[in-house]
Amino acid sequence: MASPAAGVVVIVGSGLIGRSWAMLFASGGFRVKLYDIEQQQVTNALENIRKEMTFLEQSGSLKGSLGAQDQLSLISGCLNIQEAVEGALHIQECVPENLELKKKIFAQLDQIIDDQVVLSSSTSCLLPSQLFAGLAHVQQCLVAHPVNPPYYVPLVELVPHPETASATVDRTHALMRKIGQSPVRVLKEMDGFVLNRLQYAVISEAWRLVEEGIVSPSDLDLVMSDGLGMRYAFIGPLETMHLNAEGMLSYCDRYSEGMKHVLKTFGPIPEFSGATVEKVNQAMCLKVPADPEHLAARRRWRDECLQRLAQLKRQMPSQ
Ligand code: NAI
Repeated sequence: MASPAAGVVVIVGSGLIGRSWAMLFASGGFRVKLYDIEQQQVTNALENIRKEMTFLEQSGSLKGSLGAQDQLSLISGCLNIQEAVEGALHIQECVPENLELKKKIFAQLDQIIDDQVVLSSSTSCLLPSQLFAGLAHVQQCLVAHPVNPPYYVPLVELVPHPETASATVDRTHALMRKIGQSPVRVLKEMDGFVLNRLQYAVISEAWRLVEEGIVSPSDLDLVMSDGLGMRYAFIGPLETMHLNAEGMLSYCDRYSEGMKHVLKTFGPIPEFSGATVEKVNQAMCLKVPADPEHLAARRRWRDECLQRLAQLKRQMPSQ
């Protein structure tokens, strides 16, 4: 059984992301209180977490040093927010992506929290300056944006409000490392943070290449899954530059003119509509029909691939 000293973490919102956070914090030995406005949501979440952890233990992929039963005993449901936050060291908000709803919840939490707890939002795209404006405890607030599915994709983007204390970011960084996640510090808030800006840059050029008839939708995806993506699971684009020549300076010396020539040919922001969306949709549906069963089966396969990749990354000696 984990030491109670590991502390209490509160999850506000027990949907897809709230459940994942609950499992991750329990894997690190933290007591987790799962709060939701819907009793049924909490009941479903606890049942879903139980099944998931049992499966993970059987398949040898359960995180942390505790067994599934011990981890499960650390997680409890809670329908009273005041009770939930008492003595907590970290609150992770995971309610739907709606600015007004989130602001309402932070205003409520601001009234009842002490000066020690960290107040963190899982938002994918709302800016800290919008979410935490005017809160008395703004120094204790930040965004900790996970990537789906967080249990297998460890990245967490930490994004401060301009008034967030550096100690808040440091504490959250340490906490994320403790539960096996891979936190990065986004130094200033920016639309899309970092991950989605990179993702949208890729999607944008992928769309233009298909729109201009340069490549088919299925071959476009192969360029990533059997090409760039293979190395990006281990090294980023900047290290790729460093390794693809005799170091970064040599890469820029050799390739910057060529890169700039290609970059100047990039087109405007696509509309993501019309004939191209028909064409891409048709190709995607040929591969994975867009009904709930096929989509769910493909997501399960994707998660299994990510699970094995995560295992491989853990096994690889670090240099
Ligand atoms: P979800 O819809 O699965 O879950 C939301 C939960 O919040 C539900 O259980 C709902 O009952 C609860 N809720 C609604 N109002 C509430 C209130 N006033 N107080 C307490 N609980 C309340 O949503 P999901 O997908 O888990 O997303 C949560 C957050 O995580 C969003 O901000 C989303 O942008 C972010 N996120 C989502 C990712 C994804 O792939 N789904 C990835 C990364 C971040």
